[in-house]
Amino acid sequence: MSADTAPRTSYDDFPYPGYAYWFTHPDHLGVLGSLYGLDTAPSNACRVLELGCGDGGNLLPIAALAPESRFVGVDLSATEIRLGMRRIGELGLSNIELVHADLRDLGDRLGTFDYVIAHGLLSWIPADARVEAMRLIGRSLAPDGVAMVSFNTYPGWHDYEPIRRLMAFHVASVEAIPERVQQARDVARWYCARVAREAEEVKGNLMVELHQRIAESSDSIIAHDYLSPHHHPFWFDEFAALSAESGLQYVASARQGRSRIGNFDADVAGMLRAIDDPVRQQQYIDFFSNTRFRTAVLCRSDRALDRAAGVERFAELFVESRTGTDVWHETLRDREQVSVITPVGGVAVQGLPLRITLSHLYRRQPVPIDFDSLFGAVLPELQLTGADEGRGNSEEGRAEMVVAMVKELARLYFMEVIHLWRIPPPMTLERGDRPRTGALQRLQAREGTTATTLGHRHTHLDPVQRQVLARLDGETSIDTLRAEIDGDVDDALGFLTSAGFLLAPGAD
Ligand SMILES: C[S@@+](CC[C@H](N)C(=O)[O-])C[C@H]1O[C@@H](n2cnc3c(N)ncnc32)[C@H](O)[C@@H]1O
Repeated sequence: MSADTAPRTSYDDFPYPGYAYWFTHPDHLGVLGSLYGLDTAPSNACRVLELGCGDGGNLLPIAALAPESRFVGVDLSATEIRLGMRRIGELGLSNIELVHADLRDLGDRLGTFDYVIAHGLLSWIPADARVEAMRLIGRSLAPDGVAMVSFNTYPGWHDYEPIRRLMAFHVASVEAIPERVQQARDVARWYCARVAREAEEVKGNLMVELHQRIAESSDSIIAHDYLSPHHHPFWFDEFAALSAESGLQYVASARQGRSRIGNFDADVAGMLRAIDDPVRQQQYIDFFSNTRFRTAVLCRSDRALDRAAGVERFAELFVESRTGTDVWHETLRDREQVSVITPVGGVAVQGLPLRITLSHLYRRQPVPIDFDSLFGAVLPELQLTGADEGRGNSEEGRAEMVVAMVKELARLYFMEVIHLWRIPPPMTLERGDRPRTGALQRLQAREGTTATTLGHRHTHLDPVQRQVLARLDGETSIDTLRAEIDGDVDDALGFLTSAGFLLAPGAD
């Protein structure tokens, strides 16, 4: 069946707004691939394919900042593709195309790509489409290409399965999607309350979590992710076998912290380290972590991977802080160590050199900096506080310090405390008189309550932030914004600057 003859899908009747997912960005995938020894393409000169791209909410912000790269998105929903193409037309982007097609009909006509993204697709399509999606990725990847495929997993999904089944069972004969969503929400709420009471010791916390998760989910997520007729969580080894059949092998997780062996207790970590088959090792990790969702980075099976990433590979990258804590803030200086909260839990940070370095990164967040400049910027303070232990005075000592710093930061990268870029996004903290953001960000601010930062982060905006962002065109002065917008423009500008919305001078 071709897309022209394809029946309307539920995504046509009830769209699923697309968002930016930072861990799908080709720069991130390229950095990860290169840390495992692949010769990956730079994100400013590469070819990217996204399967199940929806309205292009993930692909457009990347394409808008990489005019020399080429982007193709494919989706079965004509409505989603039309929405995305309208935006592409409004923005005048010539490096991106969204194709209305069933991925099962594509064959080889799209060519090869350095990066392939399939986010939120594999677990929600029928079995033949799952197999074909993986084959298509296998056929489409350039020799040193990198793919990111996300999917739901067991054993974690066993905890969620009863509620999903109940929601679908309850609305089986209800046609109208808004009604389906409302009734599914109601029955989920009753279920959580009842089971939490009946089996409090065993399921109390799980029900609280489930209830909260469903309450926070948008109607689109309820309609599609929870009520989809297709839902297939994978065991990791099953996914790895499907990948292998398609000529693909597992490289790493796009969200590293969740599956790092170093994050387990010593006895489990010891057992995991002794396993030399990466697939078995990852499957054990899923058992021990009760993993519910995976963001798997893949490459072609014929590439030899170097799984012991050398520190020297980090040295040419740009570093961005992603913590909400200044670990060298004057109120924290007398503490031996400071804990920073990351998406993978708390991480203890200690030692003056590391804390001073992280503090410098925190203060320039989210603008990335290269390691040399970072070291140059923190060295005077390291010397002043004696944190360099005299090594800052000799070339040899300074080289030792750089190696030590890169090692420490590499550990924190895998805990999502910092992020690494090869081609940093063109953002700045300098507002100037007439600040500027991208045309896409202005469009998003005019049309909705969320926008994508230049660092590819999905961000919610309040009404004043929206109005300000919509007018950051490089021509309107801050004084004009203050005069014409009802609200605290300076506060909004402060937020937009620190979130990473301001384009550096000279950036496209
Ligand atoms: C759950 S949505 C995910 C959208 C987006 N990738 C995200 O993560 O926000 C799944 C998308 O896959 C698309 N899709 C489903 N089956 C497809 C097929 N056979 N070929 C192409 N796209 C398909 C749907 O239309 C929908 O837009």
